[in-house]
Amino acid sequence: MARSLCCRAKTGISGRRVCTLQSSVVLRNSFRADPIGSYLCGICPVSHHLAAAKATDMIVGASTLTPTAEKIRRLMHYGQTLQSHALHFFHLCSPDLLFGFDDEVRHRNIVGVIEDSPEIAKQGVLLRKYGQEIIRVTSGKRIHGTGAIPGGVNKSLSKEEVHYLQDDVAQMIGWAQGAVELIKKVFFEQYDYHMAFARIETSMMSQIRADGAFELYHGGLRARDHVGKTIFDHIDYRNYNDYIRESVKDWSYMKFPFITSLGEENGWYRVGPLARVNNCDFITTPLAEAERKEFMAIGNGLPVQSTMGYHWARLIELLHCTEAVAELLCDNDIVGKDLRVTGELQNSGTGVIEAPRGTLFHHYEIDDQGIVEKASLIVSTTNNNQAMNESIRRVANQYLDGHRLSEALLNQVEIAIRAYDPCLSCATHAIGKMPMELNLQDENGELIDRLEKKVTGQILRTL
Ligand code: NI
Repeated sequence: MARSLCCRAKTGISGRRVCTLQSSVVLRNSFRADPIGSYLCGICPVSHHLAAAKATDMIVGASTLTPTAEKIRRLMHYGQTLQSHALHFFHLCSPDLLFGFDDEVRHRNIVGVIEDSPEIAKQGVLLRKYGQEIIRVTSGKRIHGTGAIPGGVNKSLSKEEVHYLQDDVAQMIGWAQGAVELIKKVFFEQYDYHMAFARIETSMMSQIRADGAFELYHGGLRARDHVGKTIFDHIDYRNYNDYIRESVKDWSYMKFPFITSLGEENGWYRVGPLARVNNCDFITTPLAEAERKEFMAIGNGLPVQSTMGYHWARLIELLHCTEAVAELLCDNDIVGKDLRVTGELQNSGTGVIEAPRGTLFHHYEIDDQGIVEKASLIVSTTNNNQAMNESIRRVANQYLDGHRLSEALLNQVEIAIRAYDPCLSCATHAIGKMPMELNLQDENGELIDRLEKKVTGQILRTL
């Protein structure tokens, strides 16, 4: 049932040729590793690159990477998470949070933030840039880099590169702390609203380190139900097919994953920052761990189910990434020269990573010639598909009068979806900017109202 991704559809060239390119990576150990994986998405390319690299590690029989290779990949991944979370919060969310939802559409954007709060805007731009610089230094390019190869990485860091990144890291930690303070202030100013808005009670899934620590790069799978009871724990992700299945619905291009043991109806779950911060037993870096404790306190011993809690959890992760980067830059393995290992060639490989938006699965099968015959992915946003729909249902229950759509309702739907930070470009394969359309049907399926939000922000009633 796993998602089968057609290479041809994504690249415009024959699937066979694409797969041959991939296989040449596996068989010849080329330095141009995984040329396809990162092109799945222009927003989260490093996550796909690393999930693909982990799957091809298995194919070349590299069961354990060298310390240098693993730490450089981790550094790259922290860079991706940092830049993605900074982009989401400062560029997409801060206008809503700073100005409120009644602010003019013309002003409620990053340009408005630059006008009114230039210091916050500057921090957002520079935090994101710092993440991109980490990606460039570790992978060769800011977007679609090629640093990870099957069994390791293709370069280590020079001492100059380490010093270059060290110069700014303390400032980044400080700004990330400021971002967490800002989201807490906003959250507590309208506490009841933020706890109730689009709230749904769900299971949550994430990777976890063997000792229960928060983990973004590599770990077993943990799922807990809506009250925090364990569904499964420390599952070897290579066996994910035994635990996760996907269903299809005729009204969506996205699939609907669910936990097999709970069934299609009840087995859906959430992934991403909210799930990760809820699921872990502790975070390894001190500042983020202190923030995690404060965050979990609002759940009174139960998982925090607030959908708006995603924003808060995301910034705790942002803070953790800056701290973890600082630690790695002090680690001598980062400048090591032992970059890769190989073993006996296998016919399949699975790579799973905690992408900024949640758990990301890549699974490949190759034939005896090294040609990839099957590639299956479950991307992060797909894992949250049912949850996003349920949050919209909740918003409709809270704000819809049953007769007429309103601009306010359309905004609320957008806020609910934005909390999940969906990457629709890799979850739906859509191209370009997406307008939003809200249809209201009566119980007979008759269309009784429709609002459209154009990419310009203009809202039109089109019925
Ligand atoms: Ni993406």
